[in-house]
Amino acid sequence: MDPRITPPQDWDRSGLPGWAYFSQELFELECTEVFKTHWQFVCHINELSQNGAYTTFDLAGERALVIKGHDGQVRAFHNLCRHRGSRVVPDASGVCNKAMICPYHGWAYNLDGSLRGIANKNTFPPMDAEKWGLKKLEMEVWNGLIFVRFLPGPQPSVAEVLGRFDEEIAPYDLANMVPTTTNSMHDLLPVNWKSVRDVDNEGYHVRQAHPGLHELYGNGYFDEPYLEGTSRSVGTFNEAPGHRWSVRKYRDLLPEASHLPVSQQRQWIYFGMFPNFVLGLYPDSVIFYQDVPQSATQTLQRGMCYRRPDESREMKVARYLSGRIDRDTGAEDQMLMVWSCEATRSSAYDGVILSDLEYGVKTYHDHLRKLIPVVESNTLPLVGQMALLNQEILSKRIP
Ligand code: FES
Ligand SMILES: [Fe+2]
Repeated sequence: MDPRITPPQDWDRSGLPGWAYFSQELFELECTEVFKTHWQFVCHINELSQNGAYTTFDLAGERALVIKGHDGQVRAFHNLCRHRGSRVVPDASGVCNKAMICPYHGWAYNLDGSLRGIANKNTFPPMDAEKWGLKKLEMEVWNGLIFVRFLPGPQPSVAEVLGRFDEEIAPYDLANMVPTTTNSMHDLLPVNWKSVRDVDNEGYHVRQAHPGLHELYGNGYFDEPYLEGTSRSVGTFNEAPGHRWSVRKYRDLLPEASHLPVSQQRQWIYFGMFPNFVLGLYPDSVIFYQDVPQSATQTLQRGMCYRRPDESREMKVARYLSGRIDRDTGAEDQMLMVWSCEATRSSAYDGVILSDLEYGVKTYHDHLRKLIPVVESNTLPLVGQMALLNQEILSKRIP
């Protein structure tokens, strides 16, 4: 057995302290050390269907915009007018024909981000169009998925982080897939973002909490732990006949996905990327979900489903059915996230004890502990001390 996959004897099963699930000061540290310095998924390139199409992504006070230029190139910018900071594109997504026009005073930007025109130009000193263009954001496209990063950091590229999955993902031809509206999710949850991760990072709960999923692949499911910022889970379909309509129909009607190796034709495979992105590879579709923190106690869970461009009618039916199974699973998970997050406020809460089957939760926490070691403290640091204490621990670390 691979020792990286099997938990060692006597591992620490206690999880993160309760305060880590509601501390505003910790949340602010997480915004900088976790969310702004790590790659964030924005959208698939095929969601930018025509030149001028854009999509926005907000996180931790930052606002990103990705837009396809007249030359067909996708670029990423801060969605922040250089005049007085208004959003330059107002909607979550849309199309700008010739230029991006700021809704506040009407400054215009070319689709390549350069400044195109200023309303009442003679009331300003001479201004350089390049210098006063939109500020660029770091962007990377991996298998058709567009990622941005708000603060440059030591983290490797998306291609490097997810590189160990290259061979497994190649047959899905993700870059040419088409966005769909089935299985899309945009839910604001009253929980800390780590409660979402904790539920998602283990399959121990599948048998009890997800009757549909358990019937689909419960007997052949396993989680691998977080390894250098990525995780992998696989569910191989059960052979036993299903009782639930959607599961039974899905397994019966799913046509042969001849573009995939035989083993992957009857599997759901999940890749997780730290801190908040999961890709699900199904024979009928590829899905993603992502938890976008809004505050210490609120998290937006969003997701979408992509299909092959030449999808058959039979495969479309299968995709509809897998979407049904996923919708049920999602609702079941959200309840668990709320309950476990609420618990951290209870006077009876004294931490958790993790099973070997929840080793993925522990290894994810370890990744977080490396970045923000103050989360190892059992007691909530004094007000105003969190960042200082964290810095102190980091500075004592042997490089
Ligand atoms: S803030 Fe954009 S034009 Fe004034
Ligand atoms: Fe779940």
